[in-house]
Amino acid sequence: MDDTLLLALDQGTTSTRAIAFGLDLVPRATARIELPQHYPAPGWVEHEPADLLAHSLSVLREVMARAPGRIAGLGLTNQRETVLLWDRATGRALARAIVWQDRRTEPACERLRAEGAGPLIAERSGLLPDPYFSATKLAWLLDTIPGARPAAARGELCFGTVDSWLLWHLTGGRVHATDATNAARTMLFDIRNGCWDDDLLRLFDIPRAVLPQVMDCAAEFGTTDPSVLGAALPIRGIAGDQQAATLGQACFTPGMVKSTYGTGCFALMVTGDTPVASANRLLTTIAWQLGGRRTYALEGAIFAAGAAVQWLRDGLRIIGDAAESGPLALRADPAQAVVMVPAFVGLGAPHWDAEARGAIYGLTRNTGPAEIARAALEAVAFQTRDLMDAMAADLSGLSPTVLRVDGGMSASDFTMQFLADILDAPVDRPVVQETTALGGRLSGGCTGRAAGSAG
Ligand code: G3P
Repeated sequence: MDDTLLLALDQGTTSTRAIAFGLDLVPRATARIELPQHYPAPGWVEHEPADLLAHSLSVLREVMARAPGRIAGLGLTNQRETVLLWDRATGRALARAIVWQDRRTEPACERLRAEGAGPLIAERSGLLPDPYFSATKLAWLLDTIPGARPAAARGELCFGTVDSWLLWHLTGGRVHATDATNAARTMLFDIRNGCWDDDLLRLFDIPRAVLPQVMDCAAEFGTTDPSVLGAALPIRGIAGDQQAATLGQACFTPGMVKSTYGTGCFALMVTGDTPVASANRLLTTIAWQLGGRRTYALEGAIFAAGAAVQWLRDGLRIIGDAAESGPLALRADPAQAVVMVPAFVGLGAPHWDAEARGAIYGLTRNTGPAEIARAALEAVAFQTRDLMDAMAADLSGLSPTVLRVDGGMSASDFTMQFLADILDAPVDRPVVQETTALGGRLSGGCTGRAAGSAG
């Protein structure tokens, strides 16, 4: 039997996962480590850069040990928008990573909105001023760390999303690069022309010297330094996790939509080779870039999906395991209309209200854990419905006929059935969840998010 393997690393918000696939794309080994979250102040979310690297190396080493073979290539997929800043000479991070969920830069975004920067940002980057994206986080680091901005201008510092941080260290500090899908989430990238945008760099006061080189999703990104994984392995693919899932769900044709339920929920509808500007507060983003050609998508981002179930488990402690939420919800009293708005870190698309906070309505003296669980699961479906409605309104000729789902929460029969009921459309869940990694071959031979990973 051919023992050639393709390695995929999926660095998500709550866990880091590696899968060794055979050439038949059947997983030979998987490994996963939970990622500690740091909340140093209300609305702040950080990751330890050393954890991101150490966990990635550990899961890669584990699958390589459990599935020995010739490794044809390594692909990276990652939580997007999260910002790291490190010293080019030492490779040391200057601060913890500021995670995509972090809201500390809302005042800066408010200023941008008040100054009327929204249209320029939307036209160039396809995004809107919100703390979710990387630019204001990077500016915050450059403003807050003494000496950082001049050092960045002198070319002594590197900025990167998690893919760049890992690529830098995997290659022994030789490659400072990213791919177009990750660049498209920074709010500094011209998604039409595929380059860093001078006007946006000026707007956020970001020195060009700090930025990584932007490459196709399938490219020769370099080889791993032998001291890191014991061999010089070619790194052949990088894609942001939601874009990788879009490929993995084989959404190749305009109009196809996938929705991934991890920490948050991210729905992408592929729109083809011209970017579609949203009139309904969705994002325009790069779905993939191959051979220098970009394919675009409309994206709706919801910040709390699995996070609402986590809250039932860790906050309210009304379930011991996420899988208990559906059976509990089924026991809810049908006569009680309890509604939850899980805006723990504000609301994303289509509302974009960073200051919104969660709420539960309709409580009576009879309300108990079952009604709260049902409200949490239904809230995820209601938010998805908001995104589908916005997509349909943006693209009247291209409304989705089926929704392909993946990610941890897609395993919830209750949630997916409720979603299908309120969408009045089929919800397709892959039978063998790892098959969603199949499409990842398009982005470099081995990227592609394995559905079921927790985000
Ligand atoms: O945009 C944030 C997204 O990429 C995070 O995904 O699955 O790690 O929660 P996940």
